Amino acid sequence: MDALTLLLNRRSLPKLMEPAPQGEVLDNIFRAGLRAPDHAGLTPWRFIVSKGEGLNKLADILVEAAKADGADEATLEKASKAPFRAPMVITVVAKVTENDKVPVIEQHLSAGCATQAMQMAAVAQGFSGFWRTGKWAYHPVVRESLGVQGDDMIVGFLYLGTSGCREAKVHERDLSQFVEYL
Ligand SMILES: Cc1cc2nc3c(=O)[nH]c(=O)nc-3n(C[C@H](O)[C@H](O)[C@H](O)COP(=O)(O)O)c2cc1C
Repeated sequence: MDALTLLLNRRSLPKLMEPAPQGEVLDNIFRAGLRAPDHAGLTPWRFIVSKGEGLNKLADILVEAAKADGADEATLEKASKAPFRAPMVITVVAKVTENDKVPVIEQHLSAGCATQAMQMAAVAQGFSGFWRTGKWAYHPVVRESLGVQGDDMIVGFLYLGTSGCREAKVHERDLSQFVEYL
């Protein structure tokens, strides 16, 4: 798939099944993340992979967070199932370094770019992905369990796997609604 075809046609597919990317394919996904734009070379990225037993561990963390909120049974059930919507979840963390020239927002943006680059690299190699956050990404229990401190930020849970549904159609958008010239 050429780059422009990928950029113009990628869709997020929510139904993701085995197999998850692995080996060289997975390494390429991480390498794509590490090519995100990065002001001053601060490398503000952590990629925490959950698969197999790791998905159970991530589910336990979400349930613990839900319990801390006094969640009802239905919410606890939802939290316990959330990571299993794909065979692999990569939690992308913006790891912030204090720097006079690079504000925190730029480091968060860089981690966001890394997330999209990884999703694109997955699609380019025949896999699919879905970028989620939800309230768990910002929850103090989740942050602490994953060692996310201070200005660091969980910018996304990137669900990865093999598409279990038909390729979704791309919505055509009217460029004139978004583009203006100064
Ligand atoms: C930072 C960020 C967080 C997101 N979190 C969620 C989420 O928690 N749940 C969800 O359904 N979609 C979420 N999305 C949107 C999906 O990833 C996806 O982009 C959307 O469903 C549109 O599909 P498309 O990418 O195929 O256009 C998020 C997107 C971004 C950029």
